[in-house]
Amino acid sequence: MIIWRRTTLRVVLYIFIFLSGVLLCPTLFFEADKTETKIEHQTEGFKEMMVPVINNSLRKELDEANERIKALEMKLMSLESRVPKPFPNVKFLNYRTKKRILVTGGAGFVGSHLVDRLMLKGHEVIVVDNFFTGSKKNIEHWSGHENFELIHQDIVNPLFIEVDEIYHLASPASPPHYMFNPVKTVKTNTIGTINMLGLAKRVGAKILIASTSEVYGDPEVHPQPETYWGHVNPIGPRACYDEGKRVAETLSYAYAKHDKVSVRVARIFNTYGPRMHVDDGRVVSNFISQALRNKTITVYGHGNQTRSFQYVSDLIDGLIALMASNYSLPVNLGNPIEYSITEFAVIIRNLVGNNNTIGSTEAVEDDPQRRKPDISRAKKYLNWEPKVSLKQGLEHTVSYFRQELQRTAAGPSRHRSLKGNIP
Ligand SMILES: NC(=O)c1ccc[n+]([C@@H]2O[C@H](COP(=O)([O-])OP(=O)(O)OC[C@H]3O[C@@H](n4cnc5c(N)ncnc54)[C@H](O)[C@@H]3O)[C@@H](O)[C@H]2O)c1
Repeated sequence: MIIWRRTTLRVVLYIFIFLSGVLLCPTLFFEADKTETKIEHQTEGFKEMMVPVINNSLRKELDEANERIKALEMKLMSLESRVPKPFPNVKFLNYRTKKRILVTGGAGFVGSHLVDRLMLKGHEVIVVDNFFTGSKKNIEHWSGHENFELIHQDIVNPLFIEVDEIYHLASPASPPHYMFNPVKTVKTNTIGTINMLGLAKRVGAKILIASTSEVYGDPEVHPQPETYWGHVNPIGPRACYDEGKRVAETLSYAYAKHDKVSVRVARIFNTYGPRMHVDDGRVVSNFISQALRNKTITVYGHGNQTRSFQYVSDLIDGLIALMASNYSLPVNLGNPIEYSITEFAVIIRNLVGNNNTIGSTEAVEDDPQRRKPDISRAKKYLNWEPKVSLKQGLEHTVSYFRQELQRTAAGPSRHRSLKGNIP
């Protein structure tokens, strides 16, 4: 009996539990659902309230991170500048064969190419430049090299150093540059040359003077041999340069005769190549810049006047061969292939490929009508003649100008821009 009661009670208890479960669960589910919705509502509100706060703090963190990155970048740049740069491979020369060579105007167009060549040959090179038209950028790849030294000085002031050879190139070379301050141009080519010849005399160095085809003026003899005395207007706008160089030659032979200085005189004809000033007003730079800038290529006067163009590496070969030779009279260094200025404009236009129009403008005063070197002396005594074709040379030059124009479009030009535009 007792057992039956217990069993009945258990069954009743189970039924009760089952029924309360069935009745309670939906209520519980419903309540849980309500709580969840409530939480969701609360979260939305919280989100709305918090998002701007989070955004602001994220932005702040991002700004701070950017600042830190910038500071690190600056630090990295300053550290990189202290790490020794990989220099081009230079030849090893022992103390018997290694020379100490001074290049005046070594930060300029021709000078910097000469510096490269002498450095690669393993010599010690000292550049003296006042940066009137030259640029540190032209020689910065040697900065810090044990064989290289840069002296920031105007050669109108004397220089007291010990050297074996002097390449004297310091002088503005393009008409707008040398006409900018004609008196200074005369001083650089006279007083500056006296200083360099004096240095050569004192230390017993061999000296090469960079003279020019301009000593022939507007020539009446064609092509021009070194024996031709020239046709220069001594009071014209180009005289500061032409006569300055003629006096530089006179001084060289006076020191050679009177003081037994070993001199070499290079009469350089139009030279072009990378590192020319993009806006120096010379015909090569004018035409290439105009063609690349999609402008009209301007020819001065009728365009039948002629020029011959030498690539810079050919000139450097010639200068080094002349310095090494025993030949002390003037030597023409130039490319004898002659082009009319109009022909040259067409060549540049075709090479750049912008289909520019070719226009003409007023002729310039004292513009030489014909220019072509007679290079038989250089062939005979230096075994030298130009090797680089106009096409090859211009391709290198156009690609350099393209890069320079892009670089200077991004920031101000490092070159001094002078008024005037004379070929
Ligand atoms: N490039 C040519 O076609 C050409 C033709 C004939 C002769 N040259 C002669 O070759 C030499 C180099 O010409 P470039 O085309 O390289 O010219 P450039 O203007 O590029 O270089 C001349 C260098 O001399 C420096 N300089 C000028 N005056 C100076 C002074 N008083 N003191 C110290 N440095 C000074 C300039 O800053 C520059 O670095 C010049 O003597 C020039 O007369 C050049």
